[in-house]
Amino acid sequence: MEYFAVTGGRPLAGEVRVHGAKNSALPILAATLLVRGESVVHNCPALTDIQTALDILSCLGCQVRRTGETVTVDAAHLTGAAIPDELMGRMRASVLFLGALLARQGEASACWPGGCALGRRPIDLHIRAFQALGAQVETRGEHLRLTAARLAGRRLSLPFPSVGATENAMLAACGAAGLTRICNAAREPEIVDLQGFLQALGARVTGAGTEEIHVSGGLPLHPGTYRVMPDRIVTATYLCAVASAGGQGVLQGARGDHVEPVTAALSAAGCRVRCIPEGLQITRDGSLRGIGALQTGPYPAFPTDAQPLLAAALAGGTGETAITETIFDHRFRYAQGLEALGAQVRAAGETLYLTGHPLHGGSVEAPDLRGGAALTLAALAAEGESRITGLRHIDRGYEALEQDLAALGADIRRETLCVL
Ligand code: EPZ
Repeated sequence: MEYFAVTGGRPLAGEVRVHGAKNSALPILAATLLVRGESVVHNCPALTDIQTALDILSCLGCQVRRTGETVTVDAAHLTGAAIPDELMGRMRASVLFLGALLARQGEASACWPGGCALGRRPIDLHIRAFQALGAQVETRGEHLRLTAARLAGRRLSLPFPSVGATENAMLAACGAAGLTRICNAAREPEIVDLQGFLQALGARVTGAGTEEIHVSGGLPLHPGTYRVMPDRIVTATYLCAVASAGGQGVLQGARGDHVEPVTAALSAAGCRVRCIPEGLQITRDGSLRGIGALQTGPYPAFPTDAQPLLAAALAGGTGETAITETIFDHRFRYAQGLEALGAQVRAAGETLYLTGHPLHGGSVEAPDLRGGAALTLAALAAEGESRITGLRHIDRGYEALEQDLAALGADIRRETLCVL
């Protein structure tokens, strides 16, 4: 079993490059199914979730090749429209392949998606979008089958600005003749990146980043080339790492405009964050202060994925903070691990109350992807030795978290525990 061995309690100093965005590359890889030919995706991060997406494409008959950070997908000859249960069960984002398959093949089938245990993860908004465009939906036990003799563009209004449902609606709408208007769309930067890739395929998509996206579908598309944006949650992770341990760090390639709610919160807590030509620079000299009440929400509000990361940084500081989670209903599972490191935290319903307090080393297990990253950040501030297990969660979203934190000056190694 692998674990992170961390010696915490000392300030960081270093530079790290932010890799491509997982939550942008995933819908873009699904979109490569839309064209009969070879698309090229640059700055595609080497993560287990990305490998799952490439495995799905291969199972569907695509020729997939990776050369460093560049992935090439040739979707000229698809052999089916069914996603294997094992691959669907590994990652919730596997659901994004349904919209692209519906557009390309007129059908798609899969079991209900898996992924992080962040409470209920329904896909009712995805299904409603497909049905609105003309798809028939059959469910048999744990399996879902979508068919559409013909998809037709129309006005869709999402009851909630779901990221995945917005992306799936965009992908399915590319196969729907006429204009589709997606209202109350999610506005995340990853949606804008997906629009950029679809436009590179020749699709007529506009409005991404606003609450109304227009897709003129049913047009012939051609293979395209695109460069994935830097990962804004990885950026938030490294900003919070320096905030947690103290010191200074430079995040090469980071985009300040994608993380404004995070940099605002860290500045309020006492950090100095500057946009520089290389990306972002963060410094934390004195103690971190509590920032009172903060609430997560759909972009451009404070991102739910950064909520555990900020909590971990503030846990080792001083003062009071109350973080209310409005997106997922089980996103404080890391609080128990923070307590094991000496944090004074209390989860009550949708709010996590924390009082900054010196942290000490301990052994903790990652409950999910961002919770595992958060416990690692807390260990950087904790005096003494810490051990973080459950790295399979962390590796889904970070190419090599320990290497990047070491580049920032942390004393962290990936070790293997021989279990006899
Ligand atoms: C995306 O998940 C991200 N994943 C998540 O990142 C991120 O936390 C989330 O958006 C919010 O920003 C990817 O992009 C692969 P949603 P997604 O649909 O699309 C409810 C990470 O760490 N909902 O916006 O699943 C849902 O239960 C991951 O990289 C429905 O009720 O998020 C949740 O409460 C974790 N019905 C809320 O909406 C639906 O059909 C937000 O979900 C869909 C969603």
